[in-house]
Amino acid sequence: MTTLDYDYLVIGSGLAGLMAALNLSRHGRVMVASKKEAVESNSNYAQGGIACAIDPEDSFDEHVQDTMKVGAYLSNEEVARAIISSGPARIQDLEALGVAFERRESHGEDYDLGQEGGHSRRRVLHAGDITGQRMIRVLLDRVAENANITLRDHLMAIDLVTTGWLKQPGESRCIGGYFLDQKKGEILAIRSSFTVLATGGAGKVYLYTSNPDVATGDGIAMAWRAGLPIKNMEFVQFHPTCLYHPAAKSFLISEAVRGEGAVLINTAGESFMERYDSRGSLAPRDVVARAIDNEMKTRGDTCVYLDISHRSARFLKKRFPNIYAACLKYGFNMAKQPIPVVPAAHYFCGGVEAGVDGRTALKGLFACGEAACTGLHGANRLASNSLLEALVCSHRAAETIAQMPREHPTVEIPAWRYNDAVPSDEAVVVEHNWNELRTCMWDYVGIVRTNKRLERALRRINNLRQEIRQYYLAYLVTADVLELRNIAAVAALVVRSAMLRRESRGLHYTLDYPQELPGTPTDTRICDQPGG
Ligand code: SIN
Repeated sequence: MTTLDYDYLVIGSGLAGLMAALNLSRHGRVMVASKKEAVESNSNYAQGGIACAIDPEDSFDEHVQDTMKVGAYLSNEEVARAIISSGPARIQDLEALGVAFERRESHGEDYDLGQEGGHSRRRVLHAGDITGQRMIRVLLDRVAENANITLRDHLMAIDLVTTGWLKQPGESRCIGGYFLDQKKGEILAIRSSFTVLATGGAGKVYLYTSNPDVATGDGIAMAWRAGLPIKNMEFVQFHPTCLYHPAAKSFLISEAVRGEGAVLINTAGESFMERYDSRGSLAPRDVVARAIDNEMKTRGDTCVYLDISHRSARFLKKRFPNIYAACLKYGFNMAKQPIPVVPAAHYFCGGVEAGVDGRTALKGLFACGEAACTGLHGANRLASNSLLEALVCSHRAAETIAQMPREHPTVEIPAWRYNDAVPSDEAVVVEHNWNELRTCMWDYVGIVRTNKRLERALRRINNLRQEIRQYYLAYLVTADVLELRNIAAVAALVVRSAMLRRESRGLHYTLDYPQELPGTPTDTRICDQPGG
């Protein structure tokens, strides 16, 4: 088995991964492992933008208060303040790398700031409605020019390697991981002094999601198998407005569209959000997603509609070129008619317990971006706070790592044990379990939960995990089975966390405990023995 040696290993090529790599490249040789094409990440599909209190009339305090309120006061205020107050400096870093944010034509150099649910003012820096795509393209160019960074695509992480697992004396430490080189069909090891997990979210755990196919929670699952604490997994954010069309794969209609005046209506043409919240269509996402779910269930409808037909085609084409074109492609002219929308799984507020500087409970391992749970999002993420968190925390992680003594691991990573594994002649098992698991999560662990539904889900997930484990051991590993193994692990973590929370708060709503518990809210935390 080949073992590659690098000073720093970054797993994931979204905003957090690329920024960590660029910052670390000043101090040593970096390997970025990306499991598909490097451009494929949740960051690349971000439409809304980056929330940042950069306007002279805005303040860090206001942004912190909005974050706390939307997070149902489970967010850690100190963490929120640290991340939010670092925003303007990190935006400057991005601009220095060549990322351009939209400016207002009539106001010289002022940023054109977008409005999204839960923000008390316009605060979202954007690049049209393809903010993520513009940012990731620029960062991939900077990475390609950088002699200290090697980026390898189609290199999928299987598991982390720790000195504890290798039965080495002393405190356990991460020294890299095993990877499947999908191009060669081979397993290799990467050994590093420090590893950064920036593997993103896990939307694919649900049948309907706004996320791209890569979002299978790999980092969260690997960290959990390595025995790390995983926090607040019950808080899955459902984006209220994904395009409802059989071929659209839950294409996201950015909240920024509601920020520019779009209104949610039901099939009777009634603007219904005012019945649920005084903020109407711009209420925070948990409120809007629940209201849509209720509206659809009580009326027996398959979708609701988003109406921005009062704005001109000229305005919509300029502000939302990507959304406008996608809607037209599926037969909807948003300047002339309401667009059919439904909620879909969008963002995981929970993840690997980590500090603002990415530090985790395992020496040598850092986590940032959606894979991490820093405490910023609490029970519900404020729109566009995620890119801000990824940007700030990857920078802090790189700074922290650079200040630590760098001793390259000398312990050998043992060759991958294939045992008696043979090529699979039962790929249908993967396909079947993939569909069953995601349907189970959608039906029983969605926007509205109950004890019975959670128990039902856990029984099924446990059975599926047993079957997946047998399959994983019997056959040569493929990317498909690795992803299935990871979404099954994440699904179990979501359900177990949801069972631990005996209240409704933010994104976790259960008919059995419909109220928030009084007093200071607490996090849920799952920490199992290594091996999972
Ligand atoms: C959106 O554009 O609505 C998504 C932004 C986000 O998830 O923060």
